[in-house]
Amino acid sequence: MSKVTLSVIKADVGGFVGHSSVHPNLLAAAKDHLETRGKGLLTDFHVGHVGDDIELIMTHSLGVDNEDIHKLAWDAFLAATAEAKKLKLYGAGQDLLSDSFSGNIKGMGPGVAEMEFEERTSEPVIVFMADKTEPGAWNYPLYKMFADPFNTAGLVIDPKMHKGFDFEVHDLIEHKKVVFHCPEEIYDLLVFIGAPGRYCVKSVYSRTLGEIAATSSTQRLNLMAGRYVGKDDPVMIVRCQSGMPAVGEALEPFSKPHIVAGWMRGSHHGPLMPCGAREAIPTRFDGPPRVVALGFQLCGGKLIGPQDFFADVAFDRARQIANEMADYFRSMGPFEPHRLGLEELEYTTMPDVLKRLAGRLVPIE
Ligand code: F6R
Ligand code: MG
Ligand code: MG
Repeated sequence: MSKVTLSVIKADVGGFVGHSSVHPNLLAAAKDHLETRGKGLLTDFHVGHVGDDIELIMTHSLGVDNEDIHKLAWDAFLAATAEAKKLKLYGAGQDLLSDSFSGNIKGMGPGVAEMEFEERTSEPVIVFMADKTEPGAWNYPLYKMFADPFNTAGLVIDPKMHKGFDFEVHDLIEHKKVVFHCPEEIYDLLVFIGAPGRYCVKSVYSRTLGEIAATSSTQRLNLMAGRYVGKDDPVMIVRCQSGMPAVGEALEPFSKPHIVAGWMRGSHHGPLMPCGAREAIPTRFDGPPRVVALGFQLCGGKLIGPQDFFADVAFDRARQIANEMADYFRSMGPFEPHRLGLEELEYTTMPDVLKRLAGRLVPIE
């Protein structure tokens, strides 16, 4: 059996209006590019969006980190950028940090989550896409999905899940990785992933099936660019059912909005609000941060879907809670913990302010 590769590559190449959404012309340009230039490369594709980000959801048989697929995505973003420039949309081409493509799109601005696996008899997958937050935003829901029996009944009940899952965690500052075997190492795992600004769950593997179950984008654009260019609006792929979390177990962590970093100017904590693709337009204080979940059944690599899960009324209450949390956080204005801590602001205005005040900073007697 040949394997299928699911590649989700995302970028913000221009906002409509401001940083709130994607203009339909950009989506059309990206679709058109994948349709014409993807022939012979792609098995199928879907162009999604959340806030001001475009997500290219692609299937093929070329494996992860494939140069042709990455080039195809890069050029699709260039085509969308051309439309953004035509309409003078905001921040046209903002995530494309290089003038030319150099073999692998990683490190060039766009976010990448890819996995290669043998398509099962039936292969339900969910692509989660977030705006106005950072890759560490997936730590909490991934922990709930794959390590918390109060969230995922299958960890207790399903013999194919009972042995647990391995978590591959990346240190985004020191560029190191470590694998935790769960459940026995959940306390060690939590020491790291409880600090989502630095440690991110890159992938999760089923110990019973010996297969990849989830993967996420872990780029930090602000670190790559060497100057502050916003948060990285991450994506994540989760395989579901038959030894993986049920669709409902994968969605459940989002029923209680957790607090993420991002929101206005990438510099504030706030709730991650689950919503349907049509409602994924961050408005209030450029937010609150949004997450969309698109479900697909794979069929010989074809993407049957999407199912826009968070459009469901069952997530109305989560949205209400997120709005209440937003009221509360906003009442704190420029004070921590609504505003991010100093360590994060290091990548924003703090160094400039410190430089300007250098002469006035005197020792206390
Ligand atoms: C957050 C985001 C927005 C912008 C804000 C200011 O990730 O994209 O909140 O940071 O709208 O944008 P500029 O600096 O482009 O005016
Ligand atoms: Mg933007
Ligand atoms: Mg964005």
